[in-house]
Amino acid sequence: MDAGKAVALLLDPRANHDPIAAYAALHRHGPVVRAGKSYFFVSGYAAVDAVLRDPAMEAYDARRLDSQWSDWRDNRAVALFADSMLRTNPPQHTRMRRLAAGVFTARRVSALREVIAGQVDEILNALPAYGTDLVTHLTYPLPIAVITALLGVPTADRGRFRRLAEALTAVLEVRWTEEDRRQAHAAALELEDYFTDLIGRRRAEPADDLVTALAAAHDAGGDQLTAEELMGNLVLLLVAGFETTTNLLGNGIVLLLDHPEHAARLRDDPETAPAYVEEVLRIESPVQLTERYTSRPTTLAGTDLPADAELVLLLGAANRDPLRFPEPDKFDPFRTDQAPLSFGAGAHYCLGAPLARLEAQIALPALLRRFPDLALAGRPVRRPRMNLRGWSSLPVTLRKSTP
Ligand code: HEM
Repeated sequence: MDAGKAVALLLDPRANHDPIAAYAALHRHGPVVRAGKSYFFVSGYAAVDAVLRDPAMEAYDARRLDSQWSDWRDNRAVALFADSMLRTNPPQHTRMRRLAAGVFTARRVSALREVIAGQVDEILNALPAYGTDLVTHLTYPLPIAVITALLGVPTADRGRFRRLAEALTAVLEVRWTEEDRRQAHAAALELEDYFTDLIGRRRAEPADDLVTALAAAHDAGGDQLTAEELMGNLVLLLVAGFETTTNLLGNGIVLLLDHPEHAARLRDDPETAPAYVEEVLRIESPVQLTERYTSRPTTLAGTDLPADAELVLLLGAANRDPLRFPEPDKFDPFRTDQAPLSFGAGAHYCLGAPLARLEAQIALPALLRRFPDLALAGRPVRRPRMNLRGWSSLPVTLRKSTP
């Protein structure tokens, strides 16, 4: 397959279900493949890692959006992400990231261990005996409960966020339709209204949570955090907090059910959970790609790149690079030197990585211990996404049926 066909295969919506063949084809053409005059796909581990760590590579920010799309601000979903740390560059990124890291501390995350274990217990106790869909009943509710607890979003409001985040994050995909755009815009407006109200309530009655802390940073004045940045980052933290973690949990469950010998090992020895979670992250990266732009002409892995070139960084492909991982398509939690790129690298390295890992390390063995006979009750259904790779339904039986 030539390089053009490999890219076409990757972008074909039917490949959302299986980009692996396209990744393998891209790897055969080297770490960087040109798909247009200024458009490149990067699939090699070392090349993706180098771009992510290179300060001369820029995130897709407002300046870049201005040069491509005159009325992008009219779409509130695009505008919200552009106000967040995810889509800014220094010095704005450095300022916001420092502030967010200051409130999203290791202390807050490790204090959540008990909260997570408690939530997992509660969710497992309440799983319906029949018609159990683990996406509806576990892989969404758990990360939503955790991130809303951290942010200080009231429990009663949790139910509305799955639909809103699904709609909003469509604008993080490589391709989207007019309808995706419209729904993302509507979801953004609803989330903005929601957080405007919540910020007001937390100002009146401060609590030990991220909404209070970030609103206080804005209220302190100076140039710490503008009103738009406060909103953009709160929405980012909410949706990044669960829309990705749900995929990690779902991907982990399917992989373990496909590999009963591993499910048994993890169930019997929960100490192995960190190794299992890293391998799930590697082989089925919940976020499959991100993008960067060159700020000047440069060379990447032997390929000349012009200034302002767009680079699609295929994290999911980098994680299956045969030059980095022997037998890359084999699920092997005990391979040495794991280090997948699923959380990115460099300045934008995922702020929530320790939290996402902790949730999966607690939930996966707990599920297997509670239901040793857990089995698929039908074919799981893939999410229709290229970037956010996971399952939209995961039907299971919890126990062997008795004759
Ligand atoms: C398995 C779960 C997760 C995955 C795979 C994931 C993946 C990523 C990736 C790949 C990036 C970097 C994007 C880039 O460089 O362009 C990122 C950034 C980010 N993630 Fe996560 N994430 C996960 C969970 C979380 C959680 C639980 C939170 C929050 C509680 C979170 C918050 C963020 C934030 C705020 C950023 C932006 C950091 C910056 O731009 O400086 N993520 N994530």
